[in-house]
Amino acid sequence: MDIIILGIESSCDDTSAAIIKNGYVLSNKIANQDIHKEYGGVVPELASRAHQQNIIPVVDSAIKQAGIDKSQISAVAFTRGPGLMGALLVGTSFAKGFALAQKIPIIDVNHLHAHILSLFLHEENESKKNPPFPFLCLLVSGGHTQIMIIENYLDSKTIGKTIDDAAGEAFDKCAKVMGLPYPGGPLIDQYAIKGNKNRFLFSKPQIPGLDYSFSGLKTSFLYFLRDMIKKDEDFIRNNKSDICASIQYSINSILLDNLIRASDQTGIHTIAIAGGVSANSGLRNQLMKEGEKRAWNVFIPGLNYSTDNAAMIALAGYYKFLNKEYAKQSDVPFARIKTR
Ligand code: KG4
Ligand code: ZN
Repeated sequence: MDIIILGIESSCDDTSAAIIKNGYVLSNKIANQDIHKEYGGVVPELASRAHQQNIIPVVDSAIKQAGIDKSQISAVAFTRGPGLMGALLVGTSFAKGFALAQKIPIIDVNHLHAHILSLFLHEENESKKNPPFPFLCLLVSGGHTQIMIIENYLDSKTIGKTIDDAAGEAFDKCAKVMGLPYPGGPLIDQYAIKGNKNRFLFSKPQIPGLDYSFSGLKTSFLYFLRDMIKKDEDFIRNNKSDICASIQYSINSILLDNLIRASDQTGIHTIAIAGGVSANSGLRNQLMKEGEKRAWNVFIPGLNYSTDNAAMIALAGYYKFLNKEYAKQSDVPFARIKTR
């Protein structure tokens, strides 16, 4: 019998629904929330309200595009955490209601676990290689930055993580001090393409082991801009591409340094990245180059699956379904949660 999973993602500012059939993507719909742009960050209350408005049309359109009837759905997978509580409640409540009406199980999914499974997302007729286990994954998103050993579809071990800001936060905060709107990561990426990455140098954190820190870089970037603006009030406008290329290169180099160390320490040469920052073209290129140099087997999720999406939630749900790991109607979301 076919296993068809409806996935729901509502942890932050994207409302998404997707259908996975026997592990392959049939549809993946995302409604972005532009409303946060003008506030310089996600406003939790506005995110919850927008999820409420978006969720039914997004689910409807995912089911339609998949060409299935809702009676064929085997289970509903939803993001239980981590994320914004009010935002998570919308997806969780929708999943519970839908499952009750259809008399099917619900499956709770950890958002971070799902980002890792985004590496395995593709359509049935798409020829795409999956990473073999075990592999190292650098998970870089707006809220998290960690290096993990991925043992199988359901189990992983974190061997390094940020002690302060996440990489996505570093991108967004640096963009904000440059006067760019939220989320600034993709904009830094765009400007960086035309810039000289070696024009401005920023110091790297001195953190022992495999942990990360980005707060020092953020502060030195702020002071750097402040000093340069004293000399030229149009400094940012006149040097935007070089500033973006340089700060992007610094963040990505910090990310890759520890990944190289992690590979050396573990002897694992299958290396992957996942999460919103894995969409960064500079990081992708730097990783490919490093991979060639070190004979790594490199895996990067498709661009449409790097940032938040429900297909990754549905796929995590699929593997939990095969393992009969269901959630209860009484389960509540978690703003912070550890592994899966
Ligand atoms: O995984 P994600 O969509 O949401 C979270 O789970 O946090 O990641 C969002 C983060 C944001 O900080 C955003 O600025 C960053 O990913 N991001 C990028 C790029 N695309 C998204 N950062 C740098 N370059 C990009 N192209
Ligand atoms: Zn995410």
